Amino acid sequence: MKEIKIESTLYAFNSLNETPKEIQDLMEIAIEARKKAYAPYSKFKVGAAILLENGEIVSGSNQENASYPSGLCAERTAIYYAGAKYPNVKIVNMAITAASENQETLEPIPPCGACRQAIAEYENNQENAIEIYFMGVSGKVVKSNSLANLLPFGFNKSNL
Ligand code: THU
Repeated sequence: MKEIKIESTLYAFNSLNETPKEIQDLMEIAIEARKKAYAPYSKFKVGAAILLENGEIVSGSNQENASYPSGLCAERTAIYYAGAKYPNVKIVNMAITAASENQETLEPIPPCGACRQAIAEYENNQENAIEIYFMGVSGKVVKSNSLANLLPFGFNKSNL
């Protein structure tokens, strides 16, 4: 029996102001997207913005449904839109912000497991890392240099 150790490195900025200007601008677009979220059930609004290699930016927010599982997270709304509108254009980075209506969201909110899996598909295909920045409403911003850091030992098409 051999032990398998998995190590991931993330980076924490104290505030959005400490991140590069390009990320601040991308996060502002994610914030605008978040405000348009349709989240009447969870009251938890999420916005995501994606910068593509061709300079285009696409954004999305979570879209809930009375049939709860039919809703979709912000990250997947955004990345599927990117894939649909700009197929085969590489994704450079993604900014995510979340806000609960019940409490002040000051901690960085990482993408859920299903969204990590969805982002991994694009990262694996494009063979370039996707940088991911995530935050609450204000406060710390966490950066992952690659989706792989958020989903170590992931399942992908090479396993099929
Ligand atoms: N949500 C996202 O949009 N992204 C995540 O990564 C986590 C959760 C949404 C789904 C649902 O509309 C609400 O947040 C509460 O789970």
